[in-house]
Amino acid sequence: MLVILTVIGALVVVKYVVWLLWNPAVFLCRTIQELVSRKTFVEKYGSWAVVTGSTDGIGKHYAMELARRGVNIVLISRNPQKLGNVATEIESSYNVKTRIIVADFTQGTEIYTHIEQELQDIPVGILVNNVGMATEHPTRFCSESLQRKLELMRVNTMAVTAMTRLLLPAMLNRRCGAVVNVASAAGAVDCLPHAAVYAATKAYICHLTASIQGEYARSGVHIQTLTPFFVSSNMTAFSDALHRGNLFVPSARVYARHAVATLGKLTNTSGYWTHGLQMVLLQTLPVWLQTKVVSVFTYFIMIDYKRTQRINDEK
Ligand SMILES: NC(=O)c1ccc[n+]([C@@H]2O[C@H](COP(=O)([O-])OP(=O)(O)OC[C@H]3O[C@@H](n4cnc5c(N)ncnc54)[C@H](OP(=O)(O)O)[C@@H]3O)[C@@H](O)[C@H]2O)c1
Repeated sequence: MLVILTVIGALVVVKYVVWLLWNPAVFLCRTIQELVSRKTFVEKYGSWAVVTGSTDGIGKHYAMELARRGVNIVLISRNPQKLGNVATEIESSYNVKTRIIVADFTQGTEIYTHIEQELQDIPVGILVNNVGMATEHPTRFCSESLQRKLELMRVNTMAVTAMTRLLLPAMLNRRCGAVVNVASAAGAVDCLPHAAVYAATKAYICHLTASIQGEYARSGVHIQTLTPFFVSSNMTAFSDALHRGNLFVPSARVYARHAVATLGKLTNTSGYWTHGLQMVLLQTLPVWLQTKVVSVFTYFIMIDYKRTQRINDEK
């Protein structure tokens, strides 16, 4: 009996250690492969990338990081002036070309016809489905309007689905390319009270991407899910503590630099090392405890949101 229990215990420990070290080991091996092959992103994936939601935050800095590696960028966002500014910033910083497409992802299917027309003559090698919308601050399901929930669902689920359907076929034909779907740790945990619709849409992205990864595993196209925890950006500006950033809440620039470094190496990653640690810790917990931890955390975020609001009102 003791022997059986020892064997079971040993198997559990081995499984846990393998699970824990899998991503770091794969990352290390692929980094060595990359150094040996000396292939640039352009050689690996193609000369153009499309980044949605690229006028601010993670999307903007992801686009800048790809441009730094010599990739031409198509920026898609809703604000023409901000798009122009980011395009100028990229072209003046790096020796690449840019294109801009104005599209509001809260709108219906007509925007995808427009995007398809604009992208007709561009061989897109990398698609970064980054655009996303969150609840303005953590709030209960019934405290937020239906209109906002429907917009959030369109931006977070329709955009990633439509853009992937639009651009993946050409990558499959060329047998090279990359699709990066920016989900969130919110979609990787079992539930997220006070951000229900956001978390549900991000879980959609995780599932969608995992399924597509399965379908096209040997296609030559790298399909990646990014599941960041908090990043300091406009999306987290509702909380002073989050917006200030810290070791666990990197700036969008720092986050994007690390996330781009995982492209082609990891298929599912939180994209930043301290986020990886948080993910491991959370996923180690039993679901009931994970739910409690997440609930307590959102409670403190809500308190900080109210404090931030008070400070802003007093200014
Ligand atoms: N920040 C975090 O803590 C965090 C954590 C996990 C996952 N994520 C995910 O990371 C992605 C980027 O987040 P972020 O923090 O960088 O957000 P952000 O700073 O708010 O930037 C969002 C970008 O998307 C654009 N955008 C927003 N709504 C749009 C719409 N309806 N149509 C077209 N463009 C639109 C914004 O354009 P404007 O410049 O016009 O606003 C901006 O360029 C999102 O998918 C988000 O869910 C973020």
